[in-house]
Amino acid sequence: MTQNLSERTIFITGSGGVLGSTYVRRMLEAGAKVVATDLEGARADQLVEAHGDNPDFGFYHMDVGDEEQVTSIFQRVMADGWKPNVVLNNAAITGEMLMGAGKPFPDFADTSVHDFERTMRTNLTGAFMVARQMDRDIVGKWPSALVNVASMYALNGAHHPIYEGMPFKNFSAYGVSKAGIHGLTVWLAGYWAKRDATVNTISPGAVFNGHSEEFQKRVGGLIMQDRMAQPDEIADVMLFLCSPQAGHMTGQMVNVDGGFSAW
Ligand SMILES: NC(=O)c1ccc[n+]([C@@H]2O[C@H](COP(=O)([O-])OP(=O)(O)OC[C@H]3O[C@@H](n4cnc5c(N)ncnc54)[C@H](O)[C@@H]3O)[C@@H](O)[C@H]2O)c1
Repeated sequence: MTQNLSERTIFITGSGGVLGSTYVRRMLEAGAKVVATDLEGARADQLVEAHGDNPDFGFYHMDVGDEEQVTSIFQRVMADGWKPNVVLNNAAITGEMLMGAGKPFPDFADTSVHDFERTMRTNLTGAFMVARQMDRDIVGKWPSALVNVASMYALNGAHHPIYEGMPFKNFSAYGVSKAGIHGLTVWLAGYWAKRDATVNTISPGAVFNGHSEEFQKRVGGLIMQDRMAQPDEIADVMLFLCSPQAGHMTGQMVNVDGGFSAW
């Protein structure tokens, strides 16, 4: 089903990534206005190149880990005439970004406090700062929804053997931050309930992005459907959570993982 998002203005963080850019494309197709944000760099440039001519699309550079930027960008967005009624906490440091392409992944014993805290700063503190700014600028002023993005590794442990010999691994701070983000969801759900604001978590499973046959086989073995997801399959559910049809849902975690979490 194609959602009609014509009454939605969606503010999204980390919008240039694999999933973020899919959400942006699908949201625009569904009639939403999209206020996209991301760090400076090639991903942001590509997104602006793809949608910059669309009057329903706006782009702002914003580091979710920078307190001053989160406040000032929200204020600029409003001053520019956008009126977001959906906010998506999508930005995250994933493993490859943390280490830099090609660098060996450290074992847990060698994981630095710096890398752990840097990940928490983006994935969890950043999400908190965006939600807090939403509280200041949007919640209670008009009906609104927040969608936090967790992972299949939020409430389930990473299956370490599938990463043996792979150029990337799952790292501790990732799962810890993603468990925390659902804590933010359930805390805010009750706090905002009487101010006409909902908050839910989406937990994507393993999303295909050019992974090797071997990795697809290993991770597929953990998934009931025996395959990775396509980004559009996650977007299908994300669009529903952003739509008015999700209005009676709050405080929920929605797993879109081909059955990974249901074994
Ligand atoms: N792809 C998957 O398999 C998968 C599975 C489960 C959950 N997720 C989650 O979905 C979301 C999107 O994932 P993705 O696969 O598109 O990842 P991605 O790495 O392709 O994109 C992440 C985006 O976040 C941005 N970002 C990183 N640090 C930032 C910061 N400090 N401020 C602002 N933006 C920042 C990056 O620039 C990038 O555009 C993430 O929260 C991720 O944890 C992804």
